[in-house]
Amino acid sequence: MDVLNKLSIVVVLAFFAGCNSGTTPTPTPQKSEQDKKLASIIKSRGLTGVPKATSTIPAITDPIAQLGKRLFFSKSLSGNRDTACVTCHHPQLGGGDNLSLSVGVDADIPDLLGPGRTHRIDAMHSDGGPTVPRNAPTTFNIALWKTFLFHDGRVELNADDTIRTPDVAFNNGDPQAGINLVHAQARFPVTSKEEMKGFAHDDKDNQGIREFLAQRMGGYGSGHAADPLLDNAYWLEKFRTAFNQPNATAEALITEQNIAFALGEYQRSQVFTSTPWQKYVSGDTNALSPSAKNGALLFMNTSEEGGANCASCHSGDFFTDEGFHNIGMPQIGRGKGNGADGVEDFGRFRETKLEIDKFTFRTPSLINVEMTGPWGHAGAFTSLEAMVRHDLKPQQSVDNYDFSQLSQNGIQNLDVMKENTQKALDHPNFAISEQQFSDAQVTDLVNFLKALTDPCTKSKTCLTPWILDSKDDLDPNGDQLVPMGAGL
Ligand code: HEC
Ligand code: HEC
Repeated sequence: MDVLNKLSIVVVLAFFAGCNSGTTPTPTPQKSEQDKKLASIIKSRGLTGVPKATSTIPAITDPIAQLGKRLFFSKSLSGNRDTACVTCHHPQLGGGDNLSLSVGVDADIPDLLGPGRTHRIDAMHSDGGPTVPRNAPTTFNIALWKTFLFHDGRVELNADDTIRTPDVAFNNGDPQAGINLVHAQARFPVTSKEEMKGFAHDDKDNQGIREFLAQRMGGYGSGHAADPLLDNAYWLEKFRTAFNQPNATAEALITEQNIAFALGEYQRSQVFTSTPWQKYVSGDTNALSPSAKNGALLFMNTSEEGGANCASCHSGDFFTDEGFHNIGMPQIGRGKGNGADGVEDFGRFRETKLEIDKFTFRTPSLINVEMTGPWGHAGAFTSLEAMVRHDLKPQQSVDNYDFSQLSQNGIQNLDVMKENTQKALDHPNFAISEQQFSDAQVTDLVNFLKALTDPCTKSKTCLTPWILDSKDDLDPNGDQLVPMGAGL
């Protein structure tokens, strides 16, 4: 009865509304001009809003992913037991570290993550600034990359489906790379002195340090001899449970390959793509604000169509072509040893040695980009608005670059930033054609980018399954990183 009453009211109201406008009312809201334009773009580009993985994604409850989480949060994987993967890739910091440039080993406070993390002044190679020359990308959605990992793609899928890593020459396959790109990548942070290896293990090559760490955790071989007092029962029990091999020995289970595999499965479970944009593409026209819709049109349309052509590089449902482009990103920090003074970063050129690849970097995915700042391969932009203005007008952005946006202490080579970045802007491969845009349009673009955020990435409750905290049973060796820092 009640329902019928309500229905009849709706019908009557609809009838009057219909009379007033002189048209027959439709039950679904009218699509705006913006919606119609976007619908045609979505259709013609075959967008679904859901980026597809090429392999099966493990659930975070998967026993191997659970083991991977413990490993990811463990300082046991660093030479001096002071740094973990999570040091630079915390889920509550957008899967990164919220720093322009990372600080790995020898931090003043090893468990302090994010802003305020500093390098010990008496540590090897200390210069008062961050130790790592590039910005830590997010581990979120890492399973969705098809071909390249790292800013310069130095872990990549070759045409013959083998995986190239920095351990082998360009175009070759690394027989130890493991089963996918994420597994392959996970074997490298431990080989970088600044990230995890530390400076006390110079006698070990890449494979040497990996095996040393596995042996130290497992309590066998020369790794055990170096630290005989460590309690090894904890990890043996965890590996036996995860691999469902209750009687296997540490030597058989706690191997560098199994460590990398588990780290990879944990990271691959971090798929966060339920965005307002996805809802919009699947038909919910209210999922985006009018400003975000304007932004979407600017983003998708070419310059001839009055757009900013962002989607020419940030294409498809994952918002990346997985290509390499030179967009003249400000070069700050220590650099990768390139250029006359060694403080430049030649990006993809470092791998291919082709002049056309100089200063090019992999197009980042923009899903959750709101959460993954600072932005750019060296973290030069600390606001999304400044980042977007750069993508629109790189020369002007570099000329007017606001150094005060960098709050991290001691970032190196700011005095030569403009001079060095100009080389990228002047290189023939420079890829942006600049156009005029209004402040309102920049706001629209930023609002569109914010519609690419999965709300889970903003919620500690939602992220809890991916976080290890002090309530979990702890490694008796004190190696589990219990993060401190803003927002943690
Ligand atoms: C000291 C900070 C630091 C630590 C510790 C660290 N990383 Fe990273 N990570 C980075 C930086 C910086 C990059 C980008 C490097 C580059 O592209 O040259 C990166 C890149 C990555 C990438 C590639 C992301 C992409 O989009 O291609 C993955 C995956 C990753 N790290 C996982 C890990 C894992 C697993 C560990 C632990 C074994 C780890 N990281 C430890 C800073 C760190
Ligand atoms: C020519 C290809 C290209 C075009 C066009 C382009 N981008 Fe980019 N974009 C890139 C590359 C490459 C990077 C990373 C460069 C680097 O770090 O050196 C990037 C970085 C970004 C970032 C930072 C992401 C991060 O995780 O650090 C944002 C945000 C972004 N672009 C948005 C846009 C917007 C908005 C537009 C349109 C106004 C646009 N881009 C146009 C290639 C492009």
